[in-house]
Amino acid sequence: MPEPSTAPELPVLLDAAKIAARVRELAAEISRDYPGRTPHLVGVLKGAWVFMADLIRNLSIPCTVDFLGIASYGTGTISSGEVKITKDLDLSIEGRDVLIIEDILDTGRTFRYLQELLAAHAPRSLKLVTLLDKRSRREVPVRADYVGFDIPDVFVVGYGLDFDQKFRHLPDVRYIPKLPSQ
Ligand code: IMP
Ligand code: MG
Repeated sequence: MPEPSTAPELPVLLDAAKIAARVRELAAEISRDYPGRTPHLVGVLKGAWVFMADLIRNLSIPCTVDFLGIASYGTGTISSGEVKITKDLDLSIEGRDVLIIEDILDTGRTFRYLQELLAAHAPRSLKLVTLLDKRSRREVPVRADYVGFDIPDVFVVGYGLDFDQKFRHLPDVRYIPKLPSQ
């Protein structure tokens, strides 16, 4: 059997065990905050699906799920803030306790866009769960209700996150070291 590719050349920021432990804590917190309710989790494709798959399996309350596909214009490591919907929601969110599930909160532009888009469909409540938060990069004053890890301003990959569609399969969160010229 071939060994899975783990990209040993990229330094590890958060290893799989640390991520798993924190995901369990987040799931416990969310379960406590929605007693007797069935929150509706909306995962933002593609970065958030690995995190969301682990999160829902650690909830002790029922939930429903849907996905929103978005592509932000711009390539490489810079998000332009202009967002295009590539897959719309399948289910109505009207009257639901919606939790947007994101991989990472960076400038905050994507989340502000999603917040306005989803709020227009009259959810009962709307909160944001993000695995990672790069607070130092914020350009729009938004905050997440549940944060897995605050991380420094480095470009991260793995556990669903990509660089040019690569590295999503890595079990750890790793970072791409800055070249001296950057
Ligand atoms: P924002 O609109 O600047 O908050 O960008 C959020 C989106 O940019 C995330 O959902 C990711 O898709 C992408 N992104 C931001 N930082 C990183 C990173 O370090 N690695 C991978 N994707 C990132
Ligand atoms: Mg994303």
